[in-house]
Amino acid sequence: MDIKVFKRRRRGVMQLMGEGIAIIPTSPEQHRSGDQTFKFRTDSDFYYLTRFPEPESIAVLMPEQEKFILFCRERDAEKETWNGRREGIDGAIDNYHADEAFPIDKFDDMLPGLLENQPKVFCNMGRYPHFDEKLIEAVTSLKSRKRAGVSAPAELVDIGPILHELRLIKRSEELRIMRRAAKITSRAHHRAMKVCKPGMFEYQIQAEVEHEFLHSGCMGPAYHSIVAGGENACILHYIENTNELKDGELLLIDAGGELDHYASDITRTFPINGKFSGEQKAVYDIVLAAQLAAIEESKAGKQWNEPHDISVKIITEGLVDIGLLKGNPDDLIENQDYKRFYMHRIGHWLGMDVHDVGDYKVDNIWRLLEPGMVMTIEPGIYINPAKDIDSKWHNIGIRIEDNVLITKNGPEIITDVVKTTDDIEHFMAQGD
Ligand code: GLY
Ligand code: MN
Ligand code: MN
Repeated sequence: MDIKVFKRRRRGVMQLMGEGIAIIPTSPEQHRSGDQTFKFRTDSDFYYLTRFPEPESIAVLMPEQEKFILFCRERDAEKETWNGRREGIDGAIDNYHADEAFPIDKFDDMLPGLLENQPKVFCNMGRYPHFDEKLIEAVTSLKSRKRAGVSAPAELVDIGPILHELRLIKRSEELRIMRRAAKITSRAHHRAMKVCKPGMFEYQIQAEVEHEFLHSGCMGPAYHSIVAGGENACILHYIENTNELKDGELLLIDAGGELDHYASDITRTFPINGKFSGEQKAVYDIVLAAQLAAIEESKAGKQWNEPHDISVKIITEGLVDIGLLKGNPDDLIENQDYKRFYMHRIGHWLGMDVHDVGDYKVDNIWRLLEPGMVMTIEPGIYINPAKDIDSKWHNIGIRIEDNVLITKNGPEIITDVVKTTDDIEHFMAQGD
């Protein structure tokens, strides 16, 4: 993405801050085992403002001077030979347009000076508790210098509400990436459907899906891929992916590629042998009807909960129709009896984080959908075995998830994977 975009974002954040100073670190590297770390993934807020990809870096924004300072690692020939290139101080200025850049090792010493006489400090409160402590300590030490005429910030302010409202509304340069991530992810799900057959293992399907992500230029999966055969589909966040796929059972795949720090998030559920049973189809059609109605409801001006509410209504009525719930649908909804089978909400914001930032309520009221928001619509039905449920329904777990952009002309589904039972069966039989 063009570096000018990042300058525009910083300017937008600084305008909303008005005064004070913002201090935003990237994420710490995480220990994995022995002397290995997990592959580094930058903090989304930090990256949104800087495009700077390296660990051990901190962005500072000062609206009154319209200044952007970057603390980062210095160049080091030996370390770069072992662990990869570094931008260094000159790179931070030349390639990332920092007004000033300093070595990260100098940050602690420079912090009190940066905070001096600032009315407030904006930070990502609670994200990195150790870093918050460091800021509080620096503010406290400044307070003790009052008699020397130094004033300390009187407020620590969470920058989330400012930054996350900006991130919630996607602009064209972000949508270009998200559409492409959605396209790659759609292809990955089709690839899985094409190769799937009884006797394969869940991890082999995972490999097919993630192959498509990497082969198409994604950084990898945006979250741990869920490849859940049979009863595993009833575990919402099943990520072991170790079991054999059995003839006659369903496979639920919830997987999305991460492209240039933007996530895609698709779920499809399909028969391992290519043919839905009567019971599987009956449940699938309820989930699909709920999903289509919820997408239809995802329009600018509607409240966030309206797509969820319509999905609850359709799923509850459907479960009554097939005899899994008994009683009046309105009462079953009122008493939340449907939650035995549909225990999560309809979806979430989607963006740089798979469960992206942005509030769902404003002043304690569900917020209105606006053009530029991207969300998932992902209803599901999960039937755990129980004595009061005929065994023919046992272990059916179905979720259908697409990514939807709110536009002024209605919802735009940016993901594109076969979805009706007929289309899935046809696709699996023909392989095209
Ligand atoms: N895969 C995470 C989610 O669908 O929310
Ligand atoms: Mn998902
Ligand atoms: Mn999701």
